[in-house]
Amino acid sequence: MVLEVRDLHTAYGLSRVLFGVSLEVGAGECVCLLGRNGVGKTTTMRSIMGLTPPSAGRIVWKGTDITGWPAYRVARAGIGFVPEDRRIFADLTVWENLDVASRGPRSHAGSPEPEAGHPRSVPASRPPLQWSIERVLELFPQLGGLARRNGGYLSGGEQQMLTIARTLMGNPELLLLDEPSEGLAPLVVDHLREQVARLKREGLTILLAEQNVGFSLELADRVYVLEKGAIRFSGPAGRLRDDEALRHELLAL
Ligand SMILES: Nc1ncnc2c1ncn2[C@@H]1O[C@H](COP(=O)(O)OP(=O)(O)O)[C@@H](O)[C@H]1O
Ligand SMILES: [Mg+2]
Repeated sequence: MVLEVRDLHTAYGLSRVLFGVSLEVGAGECVCLLGRNGVGKTTTMRSIMGLTPPSAGRIVWKGTDITGWPAYRVARAGIGFVPEDRRIFADLTVWENLDVASRGPRSHAGSPEPEAGHPRSVPASRPPLQWSIERVLELFPQLGGLARRNGGYLSGGEQQMLTIARTLMGNPELLLLDEPSEGLAPLVVDHLREQVARLKREGLTILLAEQNVGFSLELADRVYVLEKGAIRFSGPAGRLRDDEALRHELLAL
């Protein structure tokens, strides 16, 4: 297992949201965190990423305890986060959005120096995929045709692809994808699924948060179902795919 999350408790001020979430992700796996709106999927990802640190529990990344690390160090250690709100730069072109990201945590220019006494990053178990603007545009060809367009003029699907593409520019080994299919038309969702599947085939490890059961079950190897801040079910994706009654029980679908 490359990522081990143990008994995570996270709160926003006095409002407790996660009540002992544990999950694991193996190298090269696509693991889905399924659950309805408000159950804590985003909070779990923000906790892993160091954006909303947990009040208790442990996050271990390739054997190193990264609990409490600031987000930039988590990113530099090889975890990329694609947030659900798709925060791209509306006034920059597609190309510029990617170029800015290429100077992010994993490359050297402009990135902060490691803190004294801390290793620069967790040692790579294998070299992460190395992305260039050309390579990400090859993965998302429709962005290639829009390279000079401002981010603010992209459709929802194009913005989602740009958000993923931008995160890839940091050369992550693990991608945290937060509800990528949200608000997208069915055809666009199909297309996005193909691209995420391709990333997986290229060896990227993926933790996917979704409400869209169809989208997730086609991509995921294993599934965790989250309910009210706790894991209610975990198992192979096939078990949920094949068992409509179980799906209905867990997700009311
Ligand atoms: N910044 C915040 N401050 C206070 N409460 C929040 C904040 N973000 C989320 N919550 C609450 O935490 C719970 C879980 O939210 P979230 O992790 O976003 O769920 P999901 O991603 O599964 O929809 C919800 O009840 C939500 O209202
Ligand atoms: Mg969410």
